[in-house]
Amino acid sequence: MPNFFTPVELTDKDYSIISDYIQKNVGIRMPEGKKVMMQSRLASRLRALGMHSYEEYLNFVFNKDTSGQELIFMTNALTTNKTDFFREADHFETMANIVLPDLTEKGHRTIHLWSSASSSGEEPYTLAIVMSEYMRTHSKSFSDFSILGSDISTEVLDKAVNAVYTEADVSGIPLEMKRRYFLRNKDKEQHTVRIKPELRAKCSFQRLNLMDSSWEIPAKFEIIFCRNVLIYFDKPTQEKIIKHLLYHLIPGGYLFLGHSETVFSMDLPLKTVGPTAYRKEIC
Ligand SMILES: C[S@@+](CC[C@H](N)C(=O)[O-])C[C@H]1O[C@@H](n2cnc3c(N)ncnc32)[C@H](O)[C@@H]1O
Repeated sequence: MPNFFTPVELTDKDYSIISDYIQKNVGIRMPEGKKVMMQSRLASRLRALGMHSYEEYLNFVFNKDTSGQELIFMTNALTTNKTDFFREADHFETMANIVLPDLTEKGHRTIHLWSSASSSGEEPYTLAIVMSEYMRTHSKSFSDFSILGSDISTEVLDKAVNAVYTEADVSGIPLEMKRRYFLRNKDKEQHTVRIKPELRAKCSFQRLNLMDSSWEIPAKFEIIFCRNVLIYFDKPTQEKIIKHLLYHLIPGGYLFLGHSETVFSMDLPLKTVGPTAYRKEIC
């Protein structure tokens, strides 16, 4: 029997069962080179369940656990959730300089935004800050906004709802903005901050799989962010998801993808307004 220090080995067969499941159901491609990563990420699940082989684990995940809970934990463990406040900052300039003036001019009063791979909340809360700053400095713009954050990982969604971040996480945000939108922990030794309740109230979070054929979300948004998730999917899946996202975007609404993602060679009704920022054509 393996002792505490011997990692349980993931066989090629078990690796291929898990990677096939993840690619088919979550979209993420798991080439052969990811085997070590998968083994180390799932090791804590085996430990938590007191299991000594991946065969036993897979039998539990796919046959015995009728609640489906372990599939959620397995998916949580295999997603990559790296994110930051104001990541790919030029997108927020495009919003303030092009998108929000255009939506104001077209008479939109309430703006509905969707961060469709929100991870732990940094992206939707950045959007909430950008919207609040714009409304504070442009009194004749919008009367309200709401933001939906969604992700497949329940672990990061819990963090997003909690909205607590380390001081290091927010170190790049100007002091004035931090004072306006974050609360410092009263216990100074904790070195954490929390998004203020007024801003949290604008954001709601739900689990949503971009691979699903229908999404239980409000019908249409003026602005959709889908950044740094499509890179993990193959090209046909990317195109299918972008088309599905566009169905939920109003004509004249705006779509933002990650800087290493592209709609190049896809036949879509989009006009580029900035780096990986697009307006849906009014057909
Ligand atoms: C690298 S993070 C990007 C976060 C944020 N959009 C950003 O750019 O900083 C990618 C996120 O996509 C989520 N994800 C992966 N596959 C997904 C799927 N099929 N449906 C919804 N979210 C998914 C992951 O859980 C992860 O939190």
